Amino acid sequence: MLTAGVIDILENLGRDEPTVTGTLRRDDGDASRLLASLAAVHVRGIAVDWASVLPAGEKVALPTYAFQRRRYWPEPVPRTHRQRKTLDTSDWRYRITWTALPEPASTELFGTWLLVVPPGFGAIAESCTQALMQQGAEVRVLEARNQDDRVALAARLTQAVEEPIAGVLSLLALDETPMAGFGSVPQGLAGTMILAQALGDAEIPVPLWVLTTEAVSTDGGAVTNPRQAETWAFARVIGLEHPDRWGGLIDLPAQWDAATATRLTASLNSVVVEGGEDQVAIRVEGVFGRRLVRTTGSGKTDEQWTPSGTVLVTGGTGGVGGHVSRWLTERGAPRIVLSSRSGPRASGAVAMAAELAEKGSEASVLAADVGDRVQTAAMLDWIAASGPAVSSVMHAAGAGLAGPVDGMVPAELEGSLNAKALGAMHLDELTQDLDAFVVFSSGAAAWGSGQLSGYAAANGALDVLVENRRARGEAGTSVAWGLWGGGGMGEGLAGDVLQRMGMREMDPRVAVGALAEVLDADEGVLAIGDIDWDRFAPVFTAQRPSPLLALIDEAQRALGTTEEEAASGSALAERLAGMDRVGQDEYLTELVRTEAATVLGHSSAEDVPPDRPFKDLGFDSLTAVDLRTRLNAATGLKLPATLVFDYPTPVVLADFIRSRAVDEKSDYAMALAELKKLEAVLSRASWNTDERSDLTSRLEALGGKVRGGTQPADIDRELESATDDEMFDLVEAELRDVDFD
Ligand SMILES: NC(=O)c1ccc[n+]([C@@H]2O[C@H](COP(=O)([O-])OP(=O)(O)OC[C@H]3O[C@@H](n4cnc5c(N)ncnc54)[C@H](OP(=O)(O)O)[C@@H]3O)[C@@H](O)[C@H]2O)c1
Repeated sequence: MLTAGVIDILENLGRDEPTVTGTLRRDDGDASRLLASLAAVHVRGIAVDWASVLPAGEKVALPTYAFQRRRYWPEPVPRTHRQRKTLDTSDWRYRITWTALPEPASTELFGTWLLVVPPGFGAIAESCTQALMQQGAEVRVLEARNQDDRVALAARLTQAVEEPIAGVLSLLALDETPMAGFGSVPQGLAGTMILAQALGDAEIPVPLWVLTTEAVSTDGGAVTNPRQAETWAFARVIGLEHPDRWGGLIDLPAQWDAATATRLTASLNSVVVEGGEDQVAIRVEGVFGRRLVRTTGSGKTDEQWTPSGTVLVTGGTGGVGGHVSRWLTERGAPRIVLSSRSGPRASGAVAMAAELAEKGSEASVLAADVGDRVQTAAMLDWIAASGPAVSSVMHAAGAGLAGPVDGMVPAELEGSLNAKALGAMHLDELTQDLDAFVVFSSGAAAWGSGQLSGYAAANGALDVLVENRRARGEAGTSVAWGLWGGGGMGEGLAGDVLQRMGMREMDPRVAVGALAEVLDADEGVLAIGDIDWDRFAPVFTAQRPSPLLALIDEAQRALGTTEEEAASGSALAERLAGMDRVGQDEYLTELVRTEAATVLGHSSAEDVPPDRPFKDLGFDSLTAVDLRTRLNAATGLKLPATLVFDYPTPVVLADFIRSRAVDEKSDYAMALAELKKLEAVLSRASWNTDERSDLTSRLEALGGKVRGGTQPADIDRELESATDDEMFDLVEAELRDVDFD
């Protein structure tokens, strides 16, 4: 009884397919029921300490569909041969760049726009209002109140939006002051989160555009307003989770010039659903679009970065921290201090310190919360007092709190920012003259990851902090990592999901090797990840196109160049045109079953019954996108990402594809289909005289059109040859549609 109720509640709270299991059921409450409940959460990725429940035994791989004793697990790519023969990770390396965009053709703006303004930002609000009104838009201003929670704001939005609006423009991100009660959270970040939530609650499905000023650097220089960069990274995830009501991000220059206003309105015009720009920076030099590009780095150097003094590894008791520490000893680090909140109590921490000492580095493990400035200062003081002071920092402390934007609260934002962002700021402020300051950022900030908005914001803070350190001439390296193997937060369900999205697990030794190259070459801010673009690009753009990937060839190839698709599209239509309806249905159902079997790792289409719901076959949102991508390639059609959910069985889906493929090919086929229907209606109904003559004249008029749009001369000829009755009918028919009032 309880479990069903709890599931309902969680699903109403927006939790997708929650796992709820009970250990005590009627007539089923013994040990095996308990084991079955533990197994139920285990297969959903929850770590169960089986050793404390079961007698010793060995782990065995279990197939998900336990019949016919056929192995169903997709074959993991064996590490060994995937392990790079050489340590060349050049195709794992990316960086963010800003591409100059053409000056906007039209700057006009239509409709009414709601401008949401934080208290105390009247001047820029006025500039925005003038800019929009000059281009033809109507502007309604709503001043936000910092104490407003989502309920209060939703009520005010509903009031402010009686008439339909074209879009929402938010200036909330400009407010970098700390949020009351959550000192590490900028008010603007929390305000943007609450606005996105309140717009959803108030059901205002229009594009939300988030404005910042100088929160990004388009030329590699310093970033003037680093705390606004957190909102950039956070808001990118709003776009991934709510593509239907997301506009984009626009960074304004501190000083407006004549062009700024028109460039702003032109950017708001960008039709994101059609691949329009959704991450824009307006500068005096022009308008720039954010792009991910491959980077070969500044080339191998003979110099090797060698640690001296003491290397502080925050998060040193974690997965990545451990791999990096082992590498530091190999690079001859004299002293390594591992720190985390649990410090020596962390599992494996003491053993790790012993291993490092064995390899020649003096090692200590300290407990300190780097999100706490006092504790961080005390830790640095202890290190300086007990040996060489800190000469380099590896800031790996962090927590990946996952969950949808719609379910987030300020405390979770603070939880995400605490270790990573605040920790980095404390270390930045409390250390000097370091020879390396390395922060472990994430792809969640570089390209964005659904369900990781707070985490993305924290990583966004890291990237910008390093940009500013380097602009000040201080050491700084920020690597936005893809997925690490070898333990850490990428383990378990999170890692599984990322891998299935196309984020391949990196062998930690190879990843550490990539980090070494970055340090040897003294590179600044980049991203390193082993990305399978054939999988990742379709998933990443499933909900809507993203110009961010426009310069990644593999991504563009994976998203399918239209010529190829058009070619295969017409090939399919040609093929179907040669079949009768039954043949078409059979052919397409077989195609869908075969592709579905491949995605699920089955050896043949036989394992995919034609009328079995995809959901029961084991499809989830990720494999659903896989199937859609394969069917796009096979049919040349652009099929919706929600295909598997809208057309739930192979047969139903095949019928949908047929309707698209045949219609796709020619208006002729469509017209034929409609005529067939009309014929059926005409043949079964009976008409009175008026109806008959009306229909006749319309059909004749239609016939005339089909005959190639009867030329005036032809009409004259026709009129000349028309009988009196026909003339009266014609005139009557034409007059019937004219309303004289
Ligand atoms: N693993 C990946 O695939 C991956 C990918 C991209 C980025 N990264 C980044 O790499 C870093 C390391 O990740 P990981 O996989 O090694 O994660 P992990 O195993 O969970 O380790 C995180 C470490 O941070 C420490 N920590 C958390 N909050 C802290 C705080 N307030 N003060 C001090 N220490 C704190 C944790 O120890 P306590 O809980 O005891 O404090 C733990 O030692 C993280 O910043 C992560 O975001 C990892």
